[in-house]
Amino acid sequence: MAKVRFLPVDKEVQVRGEENVLLLALRNRIPIATSCGGSGSCGTCRVFVKCGQPRGEVEQAMAEDRDFKDDERLACQIAPEDGMVIDVAQDDL
Ligand code: FES
Repeated sequence: MAKVRFLPVDKEVQVRGEENVLLLALRNRIPIATSCGGSGSCGTCRVFVKCGQPRGEVEQAMAEDRDFKDDERLACQIAPEDGMVIDVAQDDL
């Protein structure tokens, strides 16, 4: 079963089903801000993660508008992958 690690809490969690990174974090009581409910429109769920998944149209538009770094992603728009390390340090944003 796939596992990912969240920083800075240094908590490893198991992935279940088809949930995205935001839902995975919230299910495991790891706080990530969200005000749009995961539709990709608010930008508050930003995390830092090395991820090979290409940005979708909505995320790409926000990334360009807000000058995201390469590893800055919307947790609600990416799927967890085994071995991912996801930094939710909101103070860095
Ligand atoms: S929760 Fe709003 S963009 Fe991800």
